[in-house]
Amino acid sequence: MVDVLLGLQWGDEGKGKIVDYLAERYDIIARFQGGPNAGHTLYVNGDKVVLHTIPSGIFQPHCLNLIGNGVVIDPVTLQGELKKILPLCPDLLSRLYVSQKAHLILPTHRALDAASEAAKGKEKIGSTLKGIGPAYMDKTGRNGLRVGDVLTPGFREKYDILTQKHLQMLKQYDNVVDWKEWEGAFFDAIEHLRTLQIVNGEYWLDSHMKAGKKVLAEGAQGSMLDIDFGTYPFVTSSNTIAAGVCSGLGIAPTKIGEVYGITKAYCTRVGGGPFPTELTDETGEELRKAGNEFGATTGRPRRCGWIDLVALRYAVMLSGVTQLIITKADVLDNFNPVKAATSYIADGKDTDELPFDITGNASIKPVYKTFPAWDAPISGVKNYEELPLAFKEYCTFVERYLGTKIAFISNGTGRNELIAT
Ligand code: GDP
Ligand code: IMO
Ligand code: MG
Repeated sequence: MVDVLLGLQWGDEGKGKIVDYLAERYDIIARFQGGPNAGHTLYVNGDKVVLHTIPSGIFQPHCLNLIGNGVVIDPVTLQGELKKILPLCPDLLSRLYVSQKAHLILPTHRALDAASEAAKGKEKIGSTLKGIGPAYMDKTGRNGLRVGDVLTPGFREKYDILTQKHLQMLKQYDNVVDWKEWEGAFFDAIEHLRTLQIVNGEYWLDSHMKAGKKVLAEGAQGSMLDIDFGTYPFVTSSNTIAAGVCSGLGIAPTKIGEVYGITKAYCTRVGGGPFPTELTDETGEELRKAGNEFGATTGRPRRCGWIDLVALRYAVMLSGVTQLIITKADVLDNFNPVKAATSYIADGKDTDELPFDITGNASIKPVYKTFPAWDAPISGVKNYEELPLAFKEYCTFVERYLGTKIAFISNGTGRNELIAT
């Protein structure tokens, strides 16, 4: 069986930390989509580590880790990441596998991302500029280069043909970045990629599963950034919901077991696009400070607001979430009151469904339920019984609203700052 762990909001829900913890129970951790736009933070013996491409199970010594076919890989980022964590994890290379069908991000993909974003002006997505959109466009446009191609003699020629296509596209933009200066590092990184364990990911997983191994699929981004169901066009270019596990790893739907959905006790978003419960006032600023809400990949300040149960119920529905995990509950320790959106007023009508258009001129006003402040701090609490009553009531409300049980509550950055319910 394959269990799944994914974000239910706009990313950065704390997936890295939770996977690092849960990995103890699994034999294999597999990333199924996204790429170096992801930044998954975990702490290894007190040291902060941010993973972009490598699955977050790498620090559990028994775990094998697969970068699946649904991921887009920037070889330069991957090489840099490996170099950084090798001292912390000396046997890393023997436990890391890369699908031969994963697509590559080329220097010109990054140049196209930057040029296309700049041309959008005020309408820009707020992309991480890692080349994600252009790489997935080449994948669906049937032009892309895959990891397996680096092992073939024709790789350089394929690279040149694709780069030529990109140069034609770049002609329409002013101010194109000097991507040529990235080429040297790219080809060094391709050399390095050739030395990794490149496998046929779907057969590799199947044989491990037949041998009784347990797999956890690790999501990147969040459900509201899903290419089909997120706040389009302010989304990423992959399927971030559970459906992405099947196509991003070659797993049959009948093999999916538990689906863990992660949400913060409040909500954040980085980049552009609609965010109905955003707080642009002092409370939002306090959330950013208390939660240290700055992007793990780009360092940008994250937009902050109250938890949005309308969007969360939608995300739970899309992925068939079986267990909820609430992170950063400790961040709300000093907030009075705490709020949760339970419906929207859209076009003058009250609705608890996500409208088609929540961007642009559509005016969406969240309706809030107010909760009293926690009657004691959550930081430092070790078990469920010790949690403040006000927080437990908040949890019960969330569980009922979403129709899903909470399995864990996270109350700190450390691997073991986690309370099972
Ligand atoms: P991911 O992309 O979903 O893995 O999340 P990020 O790593 O981008 O952002 C989550 C941030 O919150 C990281 O800095 C984590 O160290 C931190 N974090 C995770 N869980 C908790 C928690 O329960 N409490 C607090 N205070 N911080 C947390
Ligand atoms: P993790 O895995 C938060 C956002 C970007 C931008 C939009 C599109 O750490 O949760 P892209 O680079 O994909 O073209 O950007 O998606 N975004 C994320 N936001 N966490 C992430 O990943 C994100 N990956 C992309 O900010 O708004
Ligand atoms: Mg992140």
